[in-house]
Amino acid sequence: MLKTPSMEGKIHVGKDAVKKRLPKLTEGQKNFVLTDSNVYALYPDWFKKYFPHTEIFVLPAGEENKNFQSLYCILEKMTGAGLHRTSRLFAVGGGVIGDIGGLAAALYMRGISCVQVPTTLLAQVDSSVGGKTAVDLGGVKNVVGAFYQPCEVLVDPTFLKTLPKREIKCGLGEIVKYAALSGEIFDLLRDSEKEWTDLSFLETLITSCIRHKARVVEADEKESGERRSLNVGHTTGHAIELTSGLSHGESVLYGMLLETKMAIAAGICEKGYGEELLALTVKAIAQSPASEMDFSSIEKDAEKARSDKKNTDDGKIKMAVAKAKGVWTMYALPFEEYKNALLSAVKE
Ligand SMILES: NC(=O)c1ccc[n+]([C@@H]2O[C@H](COP(=O)([O-])OP(=O)(O)OC[C@H]3O[C@@H](n4cnc5c(N)ncnc54)[C@H](O)[C@@H]3O)[C@@H](O)[C@H]2O)c1
Repeated sequence: MLKTPSMEGKIHVGKDAVKKRLPKLTEGQKNFVLTDSNVYALYPDWFKKYFPHTEIFVLPAGEENKNFQSLYCILEKMTGAGLHRTSRLFAVGGGVIGDIGGLAAALYMRGISCVQVPTTLLAQVDSSVGGKTAVDLGGVKNVVGAFYQPCEVLVDPTFLKTLPKREIKCGLGEIVKYAALSGEIFDLLRDSEKEWTDLSFLETLITSCIRHKARVVEADEKESGERRSLNVGHTTGHAIELTSGLSHGESVLYGMLLETKMAIAAGICEKGYGEELLALTVKAIAQSPASEMDFSSIEKDAEKARSDKKNTDDGKIKMAVAKAKGVWTMYALPFEEYKNALLSAVKE
């Protein structure tokens, strides 16, 4: 069996991560930077400083651009720039840039090195690590992609200073997911005396979440076992994302809320612990009221869960749910039962 390459020594977190780890790029070297329009507009001097003599491709910001057309344009630019096998692609941005940039790196000449420089909380705690790369197609999230590990992940939390509150909330969605899987992260969140948005506290959370994820991915890169745990809240979350217009992280928070309620009602999740987890989820949702959900389209959302990537020929909807502190399990329901349980969770 192939062993997942270890991420040991390849992930660097801290305000000097880029400064210390980014190699000096000189004239004549052919490398490629992918970023989005918001990040490029916010950090023009940073790009000039760290990426002189480098082709920079700026994708319009937004999930709607995580598609084949963008991927084609990126690959065309890479070819036009004359990149070769030893060239590197630097993906500087949120999860959208990381996912599509990672896929472009995986495809170009059958794979060139990819350095992830995540700039959103969601990307720093989660998506930049683990090698899942993808684009959306036909209204289905991340349906075309590859497992392709980055050669380095450089995480500088100071990027978070310019992140809108609503995007911080998105990152908290993935952090609460880790709290459902790790007793250590659960305690950190529950017992914190600091504001969750405090930069030094976020750096602690980022480090803990990344450590947890790297361990899980090293044990199960292709998601046949423990890596499925990283989908807590995501079956319903992805379905909500497709119909509601909410972002990924916000949708995951509502997915966590509903799936935890369903697991408590089914007697799968310990009630006392489940209620504490729900309280953390509600606190994360309250970090930015800009995107409250009204649940009026929840039946439509349930339909979308039919296209979830965890589904198999048995037709059941599969969810990874928290069971007890630091313990998770898979929970599968025939579609009608899933829909009814979801409707009950909404009413509760
Ligand atoms: N590969 C994985 O394992 C994995 C895991 C979770 C999520 N994802 C994917 O990640 C995507 C969501 O990622 P996201 O929430 O980072 O979205 P995103 O990349 O769209 O970024 C959110 C917004 O923040 C802006 N932004 C980025 N950095 C900024 C900064 N420092 N200051 C100000 N604005 C900034 C972006 O321009 C964008 O408008 C989804 O496509 C999801 O499917 C992938």
